[in-house]
Amino acid sequence: MNHAESHPSPLQHQDPEVASLLLREDRRQAESLTLIASENHCSAAVRTASASRITDKYAEGYPGTRYYGGCEVADAVEDLARQRAMRLFAGAEDANVQPHSGTTANLSALLALAGPGGRIVGMMLKAGGHLSHGHDRSHTGMVFQARQYGVDQTTGRIDLDEVRKVCKEHQPKVLIAGGSSYCRDIDYAAFAAIAREVGALLLADIAHPAGLMAAGVVPSPIGIADVVTMTTHKTLRGPRGGMILAKKDVQKQINSSVFPGSQGGPLVQQIAAKAVAFGEALQPQFKTYQQQVKANAAHLAERLLAQGLDLVTGGTDNHIVLVDLRKVDVTGAQVEERARIAGLSVNKNAVPGDARPPMVTSGLRLGTAAVTTRGFGKNEVGAIADVIVGLVRGSDPERFRSVVQGLCEAFPLP
Ligand SMILES: Cc1ncc(COP(=O)(O)O)c(C=O)c1O
Repeated sequence: MNHAESHPSPLQHQDPEVASLLLREDRRQAESLTLIASENHCSAAVRTASASRITDKYAEGYPGTRYYGGCEVADAVEDLARQRAMRLFAGAEDANVQPHSGTTANLSALLALAGPGGRIVGMMLKAGGHLSHGHDRSHTGMVFQARQYGVDQTTGRIDLDEVRKVCKEHQPKVLIAGGSSYCRDIDYAAFAAIAREVGALLLADIAHPAGLMAAGVVPSPIGIADVVTMTTHKTLRGPRGGMILAKKDVQKQINSSVFPGSQGGPLVQQIAAKAVAFGEALQPQFKTYQQQVKANAAHLAERLLAQGLDLVTGGTDNHIVLVDLRKVDVTGAQVEERARIAGLSVNKNAVPGDARPPMVTSGLRLGTAAVTTRGFGKNEVGAIADVIVGLVRGSDPERFRSVVQGLCEAFPLP
């Protein structure tokens, strides 16, 4: 009998149905390897803060100016999270830690900077952008007049001439740089210059590489972009949520666009968990972790290339590797399913110019943040690369289960 069974938690006692689902998820994560580039494993301290009693507290407004009484602790929590965020992203002039998610952060920032009906330009989803950058199925593509830029079809890289051309034609109020499956460094200074040429503001969405940037291992837009949005749960390894860093001259609009513009009461428990994660990210070990995340992705890319797979852009500068499956007779969806059977959690992803629909795709997006949290280095990442090559080439996924299980056991969740 294990500890959990001999001492049932309040949840197990009151609601065994939900408790057993959550236990199943604990097991799923422990017994598989997460290679989904947008996921990570946050610490027990972050999870404790996120599950704390402060979840009960309403705190509409900002520290010192709340619409509810009893906010003294919530104020201190939010101030602490903001201060740590600004230490972590040194040079940031203001931090809003209230956005519930990356999408809310983007919507709030875009409404503040472009206004309803305003013109925006962002990267196409198929080229590696995000839905919330003006895709027509997202409110950002409905509420704003959005135009999108792609990437160079041969190199897979952002073509700054195309960005400039689209901006000159569309005259946006906001130009967005950043994406969900873009695996190369972005030249933020060049984006800022284009934004200035057309009188636009620059919004950098660093949802993916935020942790790498906080650790200084990839170039950051802080001090360059007018506004920086991010999620706190990917490479930054915090709780699920969003954050906006803004220059002083747009800070007021941003804050009122988050509350009362787009959200009501902030999730104070998530803000507390963000503060914990930022505290962790300020420790020297975080830099070592991010260096390893980047080195692991580079090694994964090398091993896949060496075994004949194609990668979008031919490699990576960050934690993401995007496999282009078009030369192999297999879809992203098929490899995702084979990987699930082998014990790998991955996601199908469009590649630039993909002719297949989003639920099928011709690509596979891989990320090294979560396995590096488990302690993976070069050898383990190399073993995973070999499994992926086998899955892509059609080997029976069951064959790889024992290799994956062995790695899960040798590198338990934190
Ligand atoms: C670049 C980018 N922006 C925004 C988001 C949205 O974040 P969320 O899922 O928290 O809304 C994502 C999520 O994957 C993303 O990759």
